Amino acid sequence: MTQRSVLIAGDFRCEQAVKRKRPDAKIVGVLKDLALVEYVSSEMILDEVVIDPGVTPRGETLEEWVSRFKKAFPHVAVTVLGESTGRAKAQVAPANVITSQTVVIWSPKGGVGKSFISANLACAAAMATQGQAALIDLDVYSGDIATYLDLSDGPTIIEMLPELPRLRPDGLERYAQLYGPSRLNVICSPRRPELSTLVGVDHVKQLLSLATRRWGLLYIDTAPDITSDLLGEAIDAASAIVLVVTQDVCALKQGKTALEILRKLGIPDNSVHVVLNRCSKDSPLPEHKVEEYLEKRLASAVPDDRKAVERSVFQGKPVVLYPKTEIAASIWKLLSQVSPGLPLPDVDKRQHKTRRFKFW
Ligand SMILES: Nc1ncnc2c1ncn2[C@@H]1O[C@H](COP(=O)(O)OP(=O)(O)OP(=O)(O)O)[C@@H](O)[C@H]1O
Ligand SMILES: [Mg+2]
Repeated sequence: MTQRSVLIAGDFRCEQAVKRKRPDAKIVGVLKDLALVEYVSSEMILDEVVIDPGVTPRGETLEEWVSRFKKAFPHVAVTVLGESTGRAKAQVAPANVITSQTVVIWSPKGGVGKSFISANLACAAAMATQGQAALIDLDVYSGDIATYLDLSDGPTIIEMLPELPRLRPDGLERYAQLYGPSRLNVICSPRRPELSTLVGVDHVKQLLSLATRRWGLLYIDTAPDITSDLLGEAIDAASAIVLVVTQDVCALKQGKTALEILRKLGIPDNSVHVVLNRCSKDSPLPEHKVEEYLEKRLASAVPDDRKAVERSVFQGKPVVLYPKTEIAASIWKLLSQVSPGLPLPDVDKRQHKTRRFKFW
């Protein structure tokens, strides 16, 4: 049976909906611009174009565009989500995808990879949502996110502080830096440690409230200190927590204590995701033993890959931007557990020769 070639005019939610309703369809591309849809339709053989009604053509109504398109490409069926035209009869429901979430990445142990995981997880989320994600570095004393993403010269949280009480959600863009390759919005920590004392709990409260309204998906890197009020504020606001552990015995012990603390704080167990970072097959504590000890399933195990991580930090380019690596796959797996429903890159299909119009 030949697969129907479907081109989508919409975003990843629209793609998810089509995938759910038409698992057999071959999605040849996802485009947001109807002018590009016309161009692609003239370049390749298509069976159907599925349009999200939120996509608006330039200089005409959607109905006018559809009627013009059908005259130009009579062999291509057109489906506008929520209604059906042409040959396609299926109604496609909107996808159930997470669009608002505050994820705190934490460990009571220093140096286990919180910043590395934060930068990569947030970057993956930004790629999956085409820029609707932000990363906030709340390790105000010694934050590393600016280094991980090579953003050391731009504004930081400090410049924002005097404006915060008057700021509206879109005003945050003046103080966020855009990490170009993934369109991740990043709020960096102070450039110097002595400035960290200027950041108070109320600032964090206001910032998180504005940032969720502006970007929806928030990922927060933190400092290890559980007694910090700033961390407490972030944990209060969190809808999910990523607890980073390693195969080091001390890190595991502290990880276990952290799970107990989070439980005592009343955080539901299913909102806490444990990631085993720097995982090595040579360790006397393999993944299943870590799970047994913590009495919790691992959301993902990120391999210890010094070469890949050092190259990534040196270039200021997260490992998720090197798609075919095991370490990148482990981060995408973590994203699928923490922020379910976001579209993930399809590693197998990436090898195919068919031209695809998606970011990966
Ligand atoms: N999976 C990995 N493979 C190899 N090296 C890694 C991995 N994850 C992190 N590292 C390295 O481990 C070191 C510590 O990582 P990172 O700075 O992310 O830890 P952290 O928990 O944020 O530390 P801190 O508590 O000081 O903020 C860094 O040099 C980083 O490059
Ligand atoms: Mg750190």
